[in-house]
Amino acid sequence: MENFILFNNVSFSSINEYDDTKTEILKDINLSVGHGEFISVVGKNGCGKSTLSKHFNAVLVPTGGDILIDGINTKCEEKIFEIRQKIGLVLQNPDNQIISGVVEDDVAFGLENLGINRYTMRENVDKALKSVGMYEYKNSPTYTLSGGQKQRVAIAGVLAMNPECIVLDEPTSMLDPSGRKEVLDTIVNLNKKFGTTIVLITHDMEELSLSGRVLIMDEGSIVSEKTPEELFCNSHLLNRYGLLPPSSIKLLYNLENEGYKVKLKSPDTEICTKEILSLLEEVKCRR
Ligand SMILES: Nc1ncnc2c1ncn2[C@@H]1O[C@H](COP(=O)(O)OP(=O)(O)OP(=O)(O)O)[C@@H](O)[C@H]1O
Ligand SMILES: [Mg+2]
Repeated sequence: MENFILFNNVSFSSINEYDDTKTEILKDINLSVGHGEFISVVGKNGCGKSTLSKHFNAVLVPTGGDILIDGINTKCEEKIFEIRQKIGLVLQNPDNQIISGVVEDDVAFGLENLGINRYTMRENVDKALKSVGMYEYKNSPTYTLSGGQKQRVAIAGVLAMNPECIVLDEPTSMLDPSGRKEVLDTIVNLNKKFGTTIVLITHDMEELSLSGRVLIMDEGSIVSEKTPEELFCNSHLLNRYGLLPPSSIKLLYNLENEGYKVKLKSPDTEICTKEILSLLEEVKCRR
């Protein structure tokens, strides 16, 4: 696989300034992500997901090991703009990301630091707002937007920089079902249509099925790397790391425990539904 993003033995420790004690938050992370991949990251609260996300675009730099983005070391301070143009980070809470009072000013904010001309800036902002379906709100005050709309404006702010990769830290955790759908559709569209590399941090097991690869984190380490299919069929891993599969798969596990011969479990709800229906059919035939 082509190494667009490469974490080599990355660790991150924070030092308590009062008593000088050291806490290791990330431990020996090795990771490589290719152009156009869609990966997801799960793990219990406090296992280090947000700390990991901030390492992708040099908001934090490793205290041990190295991170290379297209061959550029994130410790190289003079390349920080280049890295942040390649990798955009969307924070969990859009209120922490939205800075300006008007939608289009907010989306333009990151571009202003790049010193590009006003015409290109206008073009980038309009394109970014259109791709998240928020163009008609470009003159709206940001305080009037819903949570889902704010999150899409935050994504547009990152998109306007034309990044090759977007890292999203639990972007849907504060959203209602329709806001969640808006944001997920936007992410999937970016990956499928424009080949944008996606790193999605989530607690939502259904969202994992959007990705090609799932990383499980525990106590600062990556402890497993599986496809969604492999993960959902591995009850040992699910139990060990306290991951609850989507409800359709949970139902198949329950049926299996009741003695039914379940042939497959899939992250695709439709496939699970077909399996459940065929089990019901078998039961009917036996009667
Ligand atoms: N700046 C910091 N200084 C000291 N400890 C920190 C700092 N930032 C995070 N931590 C600690 O590091 C650990 C990992 O935190 P992090 O926020 O990365 O976890 P997380 O997996 O994102 O959790 P959540 O699922 O709740 O969002 C936690 O124990 C947290 O308390
Ligand atoms: Mg977090």
